[in-house]
Formats: sequence, structure tokens, C-alpha cells
Amino acid sequence: MASSREGIYLMAFLLLFSPSELRFSEAATEDPIPADWPHQFHALMFMNRTGTLQKLDLWYDWPNGRNFNIIQNQLDNVVTYDLEWNNGTSFFYTLDSSDPTCQVMQVEVGILRPNWLQGATYLGQQKVDNFLCNVWEKVDFIWYYEDVLTRRPVKWIFYTGYTAHVMTFEVGAVLEDPNWQAPVYCFSENEKKNDSPNFGPAVRGGFLGSLMRRIPPWETM
Ligand SMILES: *[C@@H]1O[C@H](CO)[C@@H](O)[C@H](O)[C@H]1NC(C)=O
Ligand SMILES: *[C@@H]1O[C@H](CO)[C@@H](O)[C@H](O)[C@H]1NC(C)=O
Repeated sequence: MASSREGIYLMAFLLLFSPSELRFSEAATEDPIPADWPHQFHALMFMNRTGTLQKLDLWYDWPNGRNFNIIQNQLDNVVTYDLEWNNGTSFFYTLDSSDPTCQVMQVEVGILRPNWLQGATYLGQQKVDNFLCNVWEKVDFIWYYEDVLTRRPVKWIFYTGYTAHVMTFEVGAVLEDPNWQAPVYCFSENEKKNDSPNFGPAVRGGFLGSLMRRIPPWETM
């Protein structure tokens, strides 16, 4: 009887201190750890989704609990907006006046925390995009490349192969409030009932925001 109770305590211990965290604390004295994300920044990125190139504006705004991905496919006029709130609500929309589209999604996790890379496994150094980088892996999620000299992110690759190259990284840049207002048709009942929005390839097959939240709903579309 006593031993089975000990077994439960041991299981609880193992659940609380998962192997990745143990590895992290053991390695902390030797291996570099990724820099926390600045609480507010703007990054312009080039994305490669199995050959489809995209320009992506990322506005990360932790104090205001919001994250914005503004995506445009190469030589395509359609801009897709992925506006994420820390309460789990995401708005995916276009502003095309002839065919306004919006889908509201509710997920269980908020936006990435500034220290979301904590506990990642250090893989060593690698020259990437012409920068010498420290490389970490979060298993089944991401490979992350950080410039050794400046500690800025250079590149990351999601487990689906979706790849980001960071072109600019403006620490402290904030997108002004009016730009965070989702369009009115996101709030109409008709749009909410429409569960097959006509999003282009910018969205299908792995959307940054969804991936960031570890949920790729568009993979199956
Ligand atoms: C994009 O990724 C594919 C592999 O998925 C690769 O073959 C191609 O060279 C990449 N394109 C660019 C411009 O990096
Ligand atoms: C989350 O916050 C956004 C922005 O304030 C709001 O539009 C949305 O309704 C909120 N979602 C929930 C579930 O409260």
C-alpha cells in the first residue's frame, strides 16, 4: 500500500520535472540559452512554405497581449491578416472589398510568451544565412537560429518545414492601436457560421500564427 503511494508521488515528480526541464537545468551551466524575445518588436520576414515565398510582417506585442502576422505571397496582391489575442481569440481576414473574408478562431493557448524558447535543446553552432548562429530545437515544434554576436533571431524552421528568414528586427517597435481592430464583418453571425473561408495558399498548409500556437488547422484543408 505504501509503495503504491510512493509510486504515485514518483509519477507526480516526473510529470512536474519533465526530462526537457531537467536537461535544461543541467545544461544551463555549459550550453548557451536563447535570448528571450523583446516584449515588443517588429520583424519583417521572408517565409518559404515548400517553395511558396511569402513576405510576413510580424508585430509582437506582449504587454498588450497581442500578436499580428500580416502575410503576402510573392507577386500576389492579396494580404492575409492573422491577428491573435492572448485570450486565445484569433481573427484571420482579408480586406478585399469585393470579397471580404474573416474567420474567428478560439484556441486554448495565448500568444507566445517572451521566454517561450526556454527548455529548448542546444544543438551547437551553424552558419545560416551567412550568420554564425547558435541552434536550438524544441522537439516536434521548431528549430531556432540565433546570431551568436547580436543574439537576434536569424531563422527558424517549423516542424512542417515552414521556414522564416528574419530580414529586419526592430526592438521596441509598436503598431498603433487602430491597426489592431479586426474589420466589422469578423463580428457578424453570418461570417462566423461560414466555416470554409476562401483563404488563398498564404493560409493553407501551415499558417505562422497557428503554428506558433502549435495548432496547424490549415494543414487539413
Ligand atoms: C524554399 O524551400 C524549398 C524546399 O522546401 C527549397 O527547395 C527552395 O530552394 C527554397 N527557396 C528559397 C528561395 O529559399
Ligand atoms: C479576446 O480579445 C479580443 C480583443 O479585445 C476580443 O475581440 C475577443 O472577443 C476576446 N475573446 C474572448 C473569448 O473574450
